[in-house]
Amino acid sequence: MSEEQLDSATPIHKGLDGVVIDTSSVSLVDGKNGNIWYAGYHIDDLARDASFCEVLHLLWYHDLPTEAELTSLRSDLAARRELPADVRDAIAAQADADPMDVLRTAVSMLATHNDGSSIEENLQDIVAKMPTIVAHVQRVREGIDPIPPREELSHAANFLYMLDGEEPSEERARAIEEALILYAEHGMNASTLSSVVTTSTLANPYAAITSAIGTLHGPLHGGATETVIETLQEIGSPEGVDEWVEKTLDAGGNIPGFGHRVYEVTDPRCRHFQRQIDALSPEGEVKQWYETAKALQDAVESRLGDEGIHPNTDLYSGIMYRAVGIPPALYTTLFAMGRVAGWSAHILEQRDDNRILRPRVRYEGETGREFTPLDDRD
Ligand code: CMC
Repeated sequence: MSEEQLDSATPIHKGLDGVVIDTSSVSLVDGKNGNIWYAGYHIDDLARDASFCEVLHLLWYHDLPTEAELTSLRSDLAARRELPADVRDAIAAQADADPMDVLRTAVSMLATHNDGSSIEENLQDIVAKMPTIVAHVQRVREGIDPIPPREELSHAANFLYMLDGEEPSEERARAIEEALILYAEHGMNASTLSSVVTTSTLANPYAAITSAIGTLHGPLHGGATETVIETLQEIGSPEGVDEWVEKTLDAGGNIPGFGHRVYEVTDPRCRHFQRQIDALSPEGEVKQWYETAKALQDAVESRLGDEGIHPNTDLYSGIMYRAVGIPPALYTTLFAMGRVAGWSAHILEQRDDNRILRPRVRYEGETGREFTPLDDRD
């Protein structure tokens, strides 16, 4: 049926709310009870005990790796960390740009180095290089030389090393590893959908991940990790919370770090970020943000909790990143560094049984209008 033929009785699912596009074995997000399962394993267990590489294998192949499989995946990824010279140069030329714009552009550029490898190899290439891109972006923003990756360090430890040239403590590296695991996958969210739509046209994985990074950037999605910090800075202290919440809700605004299409309860990832913040015991400004965020949670839940508005993962993640020493401008890029695991898992699943994604809209405009040449128009 063509778009014109859709009559007014055809239901419209604004925001694709409630639309089920396929089956998946990658993850289950139980929004009613606040549970997330990656291929059957609860994120509580994965966050505490797994590595990012194990989770990547789990999401791609729906099984935890054997020791041999893990060793092989780790060394394949580590060997791919270095960036091509033209990508390094492009990053170096963008010192003042938004890090997400540079990340998206750099991933897109990697496609020009695609030597016809398999989809899995392309995806490994992107997963391995994203931390290097982000670390280079930050060094260029600071006006200092990028630091080349080191193969023997873990995915998270190498990222932190490339930021400041110091081998991170186990505690800092584990905090980032855990954040990458918690952000790795979350069902058919907006950026994952973007990657799946693009891959469904049989476009290459670089194009699919580029689409996903663009979609993640918005403040209703991954960009909220940064707007939460701006909000906490604007509120200033726990004492300022009530007035700020009142003013924002009266003006019809949404509060960053709260609400979710899927959850009716607090996002289960929040408690892990809070545990990490508690362990890192931040002082000064970061402690103040944390106290303000907890007061904000109380204030918002007392007003909107009955309507199902609770904290989402972005309320506390940025505070944890700051406690590890990462600047707010990078927060959405860290989200991307984790979520690329889920994007790539869904790309593989889609390519396994592909049909192009092509929904419809109901046309409500006119038809049969007479064309007037430009010179004759008023
Ligand atoms: N503050 C106040 N009210 C809210 C909020 C909020 N953060 N979120 C939803 N609501 C209200 C909204 O006003 C609406 O009320 P009503 O029915 O009276 O008009 C109702 O709840 C439903 O909201 P919605 O915007 O239609 O819900 P959605 O599923 O389309 O949007 C959302 C989900 C995440 C975009 C939205 O909750 C939001 O804008 N949150 C703030 C931004 C944010 O924190 N984003 C990060 C999401 S979690 C990480 C990720 O996956 O990206």
